Amino acid sequence: MCCNGIIVIFALVIGFAAIVYLLYQAYSYIKCGCGKYGPFVSSYGKIKEDMIEEARSVLKKAKHKMKVTDLGCGSGALLLPLAKEFPEHEFIGYEWDIVPLTMGKIKAAGLKNIKFIQGDYMKQSYEDMDLIMCYVLKVTGEPLGKILAKSIKESCVVISEMFPLGHLEEVKQIESSIYGIPEKIFVYRKPKLKEKQEKKNATEKKKKEQLKSIKTKRIKAENKKVIKTNTKKETKGGKNVKKK
Ligand SMILES: C[S@@+](CC[C@H](N)C(=O)[O-])C[C@H]1O[C@@H](n2cnc3c(N)ncnc32)[C@H](O)[C@@H]1O
Repeated sequence: MCCNGIIVIFALVIGFAAIVYLLYQAYSYIKCGCGKYGPFVSSYGKIKEDMIEEARSVLKKAKHKMKVTDLGCGSGALLLPLAKEFPEHEFIGYEWDIVPLTMGKIKAAGLKNIKFIQGDYMKQSYEDMDLIMCYVLKVTGEPLGKILAKSIKESCVVISEMFPLGHLEEVKQIESSIYGIPEKIFVYRKPKLKEKQEKKNATEKKKKEQLKSIKTKRIKAENKKVIKTNTKKETKGGKNVKKK
């Protein structure tokens, strides 16, 4: 009887936990725009270590206090170890899901250089960030890259876990792995305006030159036509004269 009671209580606890988990999954799926944004999955294993290592290499070279952010920071798997290692720098995590956000806040208790902010990372400003990390879905890479390319400063480094971002200039790719499966880390910087302008100027010059050559060809062809018709007229005129 006692044993049966324990089994029933155990089954109830498991059932309750399963319901809570399923409800959270449904909340998370809806919160993440029904698949438009990535749900909470913590960075793990080698790729997590490689992400931290890349961020570490940037922070070690810093000559001033740096502002670091993780876009969709989850429970702070990337930010927390860095905030502990670099107390001189400032760390900000943006996360809209209250569950990982609360977990992160609890884990960060006592750390003064880290902030967890509840909010949409697509609606923040990144002008003063020195280092940006993210682990977003492939579909988010394009619009997020566009926002970052417009707003970040030239010295800012962007490190993306697993998925490429659009519109930014790629500095390098790092071979890594997740659960033994090969994956990549992408490192970016702001596309340089000067280079962009130079490219634009070069394509405009090319277009102009093409137009010019088309025009000169046309003129040449027209001139040829005119000469031909003139010579025809002249020869006709000559015949006429002979006939007379
Ligand atoms: C794949 S997890 C990565 C978590 C953490 N960066 C890590 O590496 O462990 C992506 C996180 O981004 C959050 N997220 C997705 N879209 C978001 C958005 N637009 N604004 C804020 N957080 C978002 C999700 O709730 C989720 O916790």
